[in-house]
Amino acid sequence: MTEISFPDILRIDARDKVRGAPIFATDRTRPDLLHAALAVSTIPRGRVLNIDTQKARGAAGVRLTLTHEDLGELQLPGFLLGGYGFQNFQPLRSPEIAYRGQPIAIVVADTFEAATEAAALIQATYAEEPFCPTIGTPGAEILDQADTPLAPFLHEPLAGDADAAFAAAPVKIDIEFSCPTQHQNPIELVATVAEWEGDRLIIHEGTQNSGSVRHGVAQVLSIPAAQVEVISPFVGGAFGQKNSLQMQTALAAVAARRAGAPVKLVVPRTQLFQGASFRPASRHRIRIGADSSGTLLAGIHESDAQTSRHDFFPGEYAATSARLYGWGAFRGRHRLVRTDTQTPGFMRAPFEHPACFAMETAIDELAYAIKMDPVDLRLANDTAIDPITRLPFSSHHAAACLTRGAERFGWYARSAEPQSMRAADGAFVGWGAALGAYPGMMIASIVNLRVSHNGSVEIALGAHEMGQGIRTVIAAATGRRLGVSPGEITVLIGDTRAAPQQPTAGSWGAASATLAAETAADAMLEALAKLVPEGTIKGRTPAEILKAIGRASLEVETMVKAPGQSDEVFALIRSGKMLRAGPVFEDRVTFSFISHFVEVRVEPHLKRIRIPRVVSVADCGRVISPRTAASQMRSGVVWGIGAALREASETDPRYGGFLNADLAEYAVPVNADIGRIDVDFIDEPDSLLASGVKSLGEVSLCGVAPAIANAVFHATGRRLRKLPIRIEDMI
Ligand code: MOS
Repeated sequence: MTEISFPDILRIDARDKVRGAPIFATDRTRPDLLHAALAVSTIPRGRVLNIDTQKARGAAGVRLTLTHEDLGELQLPGFLLGGYGFQNFQPLRSPEIAYRGQPIAIVVADTFEAATEAAALIQATYAEEPFCPTIGTPGAEILDQADTPLAPFLHEPLAGDADAAFAAAPVKIDIEFSCPTQHQNPIELVATVAEWEGDRLIIHEGTQNSGSVRHGVAQVLSIPAAQVEVISPFVGGAFGQKNSLQMQTALAAVAARRAGAPVKLVVPRTQLFQGASFRPASRHRIRIGADSSGTLLAGIHESDAQTSRHDFFPGEYAATSARLYGWGAFRGRHRLVRTDTQTPGFMRAPFEHPACFAMETAIDELAYAIKMDPVDLRLANDTAIDPITRLPFSSHHAAACLTRGAERFGWYARSAEPQSMRAADGAFVGWGAALGAYPGMMIASIVNLRVSHNGSVEIALGAHEMGQGIRTVIAAATGRRLGVSPGEITVLIGDTRAAPQQPTAGSWGAASATLAAETAADAMLEALAKLVPEGTIKGRTPAEILKAIGRASLEVETMVKAPGQSDEVFALIRSGKMLRAGPVFEDRVTFSFISHFVEVRVEPHLKRIRIPRVVSVADCGRVISPRTAASQMRSGVVWGIGAALREASETDPRYGGFLNADLAEYAVPVNADIGRIDVDFIDEPDSLLASGVKSLGEVSLCGVAPAIANAVFHATGRRLRKLPIRIEDMI
C-alpha cells in the first residue's frame, strides 16, 4: 500500500466544534443528575475547629452536605511523579487547612444554583497558623535539592567548571529575573460528573490523563481501579492543569454514592485559582562569561521557584537554558521555596518559558555589551552537540530557525541603537529576537486497531484531545499508512474503556501518537498481507482485502515504546503511572527549537506597548498536520504575548490565596492585542523516532517573552527583567 498524502488535512472534529456539539465530558447530562458545590476555607493555614452546615442543609433543594467529619475514609492520592494527584493532599480528609480556598464542605442539591447558594451558608471557625504567602516573603523556607527527595526529577545540568570559566571570562553578565505565579484558565472549567452503576464508578471529566484519574480516584476511595472508568472525549483546554487527579473528582464520586444519584461538580473560576495547579513564581540569576567576539565560555543558571508546603514540585529551568548554545562550561542549580498554596504544577512550557525569558534576555544584554548583532551572537554559538552530555542532538535546526526568521522579518534592516527607530505616528519601534527550546519526549502506547469489510477503521489508544488536534493527527497518520481518508477513521481516545490511557502532556502527544498509529497501521498491513497471496496487498484498502477474502474484520494490538525504554513501561501505563522518555534518550538528546522575531511599538507618552507583527520559525521535526501545527504555533505566540505583557496571579500577603481570581482581573490578551503572526516550519524529520516528529505545542511559547522584552529595550532603552512588563514599569 503506498502512503498517500493529505497536504492540509481538515480537523476531523471541526464540524462538531463549530456547531457547539455537546462534546465535553461533563456536558453529558442525565435526567436524574444532581449538582454539587464546594464551600472553601477563608484562612490560609490552620485547622477547622467547628463547621456549621445546618443552614445549608435547610436550604431549598439541598439533598446532602458533607464535611471532613463525614469523609475520614478518604485516602491520599500521592503526588503526580510516582502517584496520581496534582498534589498529595485531599481536601475534606481531615480538619487540616493547607491553603486559602481549600474545600471544607460539599453541598449536593437539585440545581447548581441551589448548591451554590447553600454552600455560601456554611460557616466555619478555625485555629490559624502562621503562613508563607509567596516566594518573596521574608523568612520563607528555601530548600536545596539535598533537602528534598527529588533528586530523580531535578536535572541540574553540569559541564566543566562554569564558576572558574566565568571568573576568568573577559566579558561578564550577571543579572536577575523574576517570573510571576500564573494560572492556566482553560475555558472548560475543571469539573466532574460521577455516576455509580452498582460498584462501578464512571467519571466524566475533561482531563489530559484519564489513566491517572482512574487509578487516583480508586486509591482515594479504596476501591479497585478495575471498577472505575474515566471518559474524557474532548477537553476545553488543559495546559498542564488537567494532567492528573483533581481535588474534586473523588469528592464528586463520594457525593454521588451518598446521594444515590449521579453528581456534577464544577469548580467555578474563583475557586479554580486555588483548586487546581498553576505555574509557580520563579526567580533566576543568570551569569554569562564570554570573550569579546561573543564566544560563550560559561553559563550559570540558578533558579528558585515556589512549591507548596506538602509537596516538592521540581524545577528543570536550567535543563533548557543549558541546551540553547554550545557553552564552554555550564552549571544549573534549582531550589524550592515553601509557600502555603495548593501544589503548583506543569503549566504550558512550565520551566522552559521562564528559562528562555531569563537566558535569552541575558544573551541580548551580552550582545549589546560587546556590540554584536543579537542574532549573529546566537548563530556564532550554535551547536549540534549537547554541551551537557556531549551526545549529538537527534536533530538541531536552531540556526536555520534564526536565519529563516531573520529573512522573513527583514531583521538586518534594523539599526541596533535603542530608540533609533520611529514609526510615522511617533511611536518608538523596537525589534527583538530570541530563541526557544523545549525537550522532545515520548510516552509509550498500547494501541488497538480494527478494520472491517464495510470500510470502518477504528483506532483506540491513550491520548487526549485538548483542542490541539491530536485526533486529526492520529487519523492522518493512520490514514496515510492504510490508504484511507482521515475523515473515515474513528479515533477512540481519552477513554479508559477503549485502551490504557497515559498522560497527554509535555508536548509528546503528536510524536508519541503518530509513532503509535503508524506502528499499529504497519502491524495491520502485515496481518493483512498474511491473509492474501504475496504481493497482492498493494493498492487495495483494508476493506477491499477483507471483502475479497470474505472476512468481516481484523484487529491488532500493538505496543509501542521509545528507543531505550524497557518493556516495564507497559505495566506502568496500565497502572496509570507516568513514565516518559527523553529529552536524553540512549545515545541522542532531543530538543525542539524555535526563533521569534517581534516588532513592538511603544507610544511615546502613554508608553503603551503594541505588537503589530511576529515571525516565528519552528524546528519541531516532521509536520504531520500543517493546519493544526500552525494553529499551535499562533496560540503559543499569543500566550507568549500574554506571558510577557499581561498575566500574573496576585497574592495578598495578609491573607494568602490569589486575589484576581477571575478572567476580568487576570488579564490575558484579547484580539485587539494581537497583530500579524507569521509562522513557518523547518519541517525536517528528526532522526530519533521513526515518525520523525518532535515536540511543538510548548516550544511555540518559549522565547516569545524575551523577544518582546528585547524589542522593548530596543524601542526604549529600558531593560525589564520582571514579567509581566506593564505600563507602570515603562515610566
Ligand atoms: Mo503540559 S504543561 O506538559 O500539559
